[in-house]
Amino acid sequence: MTAATPDPAPTDATPSVTLRGLTKVYDGTTVVDALDLDIASGEFFSLLGPSGCGKTTTLRMIAGFSDPTSGSILVGGEDVTSTPPHRRDVNTVFQSYALFEHLDVRGNVGFGLRRRGVDRATLKRRVSEMLELVELGDRGKERPSRLSGGQRQRVALARALINEPKVLLLDEPLAALDLKLRHAMQAELKSIQRRVGITFLFVTHDQDEALSMSDRVAIMNEGVIEQCGTPEDVYERPTSVFAAGFIGVSNLMSGTWADGSVTISPSVSIPAPGHQGSADGEAVSVAVRPEKIWLSELTPAMFRMPGTIVATTYHGATTQHVVSISPDLTLTVLEQNLPRMRAEDRWIPGDRVELGWLPEHTVVLT
Ligand SMILES: Nc1ncnc2c1ncn2[C@@H]1O[C@H](COP(=O)(O)OP(=O)(O)O)[C@@H](O)[C@H]1O
Ligand SMILES: [Mg+2]
Repeated sequence: MTAATPDPAPTDATPSVTLRGLTKVYDGTTVVDALDLDIASGEFFSLLGPSGCGKTTTLRMIAGFSDPTSGSILVGGEDVTSTPPHRRDVNTVFQSYALFEHLDVRGNVGFGLRRRGVDRATLKRRVSEMLELVELGDRGKERPSRLSGGQRQRVALARALINEPKVLLLDEPLAALDLKLRHAMQAELKSIQRRVGITFLFVTHDQDEALSMSDRVAIMNEGVIEQCGTPEDVYERPTSVFAAGFIGVSNLMSGTWADGSVTISPSVSIPAPGHQGSADGEAVSVAVRPEKIWLSELTPAMFRMPGTIVATTYHGATTQHVVSISPDLTLTVLEQNLPRMRAEDRWIPGDRVELGWLPEHTVVLT
């Protein structure tokens, strides 16, 4: 499940959102802890983390619905830390769409512009443009209650985008949709973002969603950003045990660093030529992604270990194997179900195997 690299965002030099030391303390508990972040103009940026890590609190402070305990917020280079919400150049789309049920779709989408006193002809044209953008051109007269979840979410998106904010804040906007619709909406949202060129700050606890949609992802844990980078950076080169475990699946082993290798047991030393910055004797962890480990067609360049298959689970496109290396070490291996593989060649529990991976796929975490 490697991330595809998205097209680079058309960015300019002025950061769209800047956070400096942004902190929120509730009843003595720090829930957002001195965040520093620069989000470029036109970027699709995701804040990814488990429930309760402070994502919504961060968005609410940027939107102006909640006051920071300390720190500052800039939008388009302008300090808005004490600016009231309606004067900030941001709009928010929530998970619960909060549409006005007494208005039809056009009424909902045009709400912000009408309140600003835009003339009727412009209002009509802009609402039509927005409905085209979210592919609801023929549903303008419908009541929100008659729409599907995905359509309601698109109305909420159009209602926010019509104000042409500098930044759109999206708080788990797809979480209520079923998986298939969610996937379709992910692609659509991304394509809309590219067309309108507005900075999206997207909050999600779904790592797959963050990887597939974002230019950059910040991984958040207990109020702190653990790592920030492109989807490929955070997946291929996690810098903390939390990041390695939260994004995708990692085989984690603890050991001791010495001479370019990590010794995880008296008999097993894993070379990690790419790693720098650890002192000999330092306690480190090693992470290896399950899809980087091979069970056949090993090459001489690979690091190898013998093991025994203890469990095998068929997942359709892939098969997952659990391989026992020693009484206290098992590794998970994800094998593609390639067309050339015959049923009689499949591994079964009890098979002795040799597994291997390329040294560059060993990630050392300090
Ligand atoms: N108004 C509030 N008063 C007290 N604690 C809050 C309040 N809002 C959020 N919290 C706490 O702050 C932490 C982060 O919450 P939140 O930002 O909603 O997390 P996330 O959106 O990542 O799930 C949680 O422990 C939550 O209970
Ligand atoms: Mg939340």
